[in-house]
Amino acid sequence: MTNEDVYILGIETSCDETAAAIVKNGSELISNVVASQIESHKRFGGVVPEIASRHHVEQITIVMEETLAKANMEIEQIDAIAVTEGPGLVGALLVGINAAKALAYVHSKPLVGVHHIAGHIYANQLIGKLSFPLLSLVVSGGHTELIYMKEHGHFQVIGETRDDAAGEAYDKVARTLGLPYPGGPHIDKLAQLGSPTIDLPRAWLEKDSYDFSFSGLKSAVINTVHNAKQKGIEISKEDLAASFQESVIDVLVTKTKQAAEELEVEQVLLAGGVAANKGLRAALQEVFVDNGKLELMIPPLHLCTDNAAMIAAAGYISFQQGKYGDMSMNAHPGLSIEG
Ligand code: KG4
Ligand code: ZN
Repeated sequence: MTNEDVYILGIETSCDETAAAIVKNGSELISNVVASQIESHKRFGGVVPEIASRHHVEQITIVMEETLAKANMEIEQIDAIAVTEGPGLVGALLVGINAAKALAYVHSKPLVGVHHIAGHIYANQLIGKLSFPLLSLVVSGGHTELIYMKEHGHFQVIGETRDDAAGEAYDKVARTLGLPYPGGPHIDKLAQLGSPTIDLPRAWLEKDSYDFSFSGLKSAVINTVHNAKQKGIEISKEDLAASFQESVIDVLVTKTKQAAEELEVEQVLLAGGVAANKGLRAALQEVFVDNGKLELMIPPLHLCTDNAAMIAAAGYISFQQGKYGDMSMNAHPGLSIEG
């Protein structure tokens, strides 16, 4: 440990994972603990905000202690506390923010607020150095965005979904097929077993638009299932999953490629829970790798879904830039990334 090394403790409680992690110099993962609540929300088919908050309250201290113990560090050795300020569920966010404020106050540490999506993007900094300008395809349960970055900490949304997020569409389609929550990974698995033989729509929107729309596709899948049921026809879940996945990936990858070319970026980053999707990872690799002109960054699976390592990595940038929060920090459920 040198004097210049910076250790950030990250805290993330915006949805249904209680997470804490320690990251060195914004790029080296020291310890990473995630307590998932998925089992508690499964029987409701989605995240129940009150249950999420209660679990966060129960878990937060244990998770923070565990991450320090795993790193073999004391809180005194931490340089700053970074926490997700938003967007997310207000009650859930508040648990993390209050824990971070308490730690920062008691131990006189700087407090840094982090945008959840900035966190997802900065998960990539844990696998390599970011080169600007870059383009990030953010695909999570609540977001589908193309974000352009000309430098650290500067985010420009050049395209976003006009209705459902990609993850949301995955979860709703999965529900229609009788698969458990969260449905994304189940559709992904089924899709590998089927063929994209069912014709489904792709919403390209206006020419040159980098926006997305997945509600029409979602409705088309639901209608296909209902029509088949009414006619007593057996429909292959594998083929339907493969067709749905192909439609989502086709639009995501085509628009990302167009934007990357137009903006002449150095890197393309994949971020968010849906970045765990095998089909999407493979399709992006096919398009960008070997192209030689730009570098494709895709985080490992455990850094794609919600975690606190990404919050610590993004928090490092704000810390370096002297952008500190204070004891008035509050939860911002609809926080914008453009600031
Ligand atoms: O980023 P995340 O963990 O939470 C939010 O910030 O929303 O993303 C969760 C979303 C869920 O909709 C889940 O179904 C989806 O990511 N997801 C996947 C896969 N793994 C997680 N979607 C498609 N394929 C996957 N393998
Ligand atoms: Zn997320």
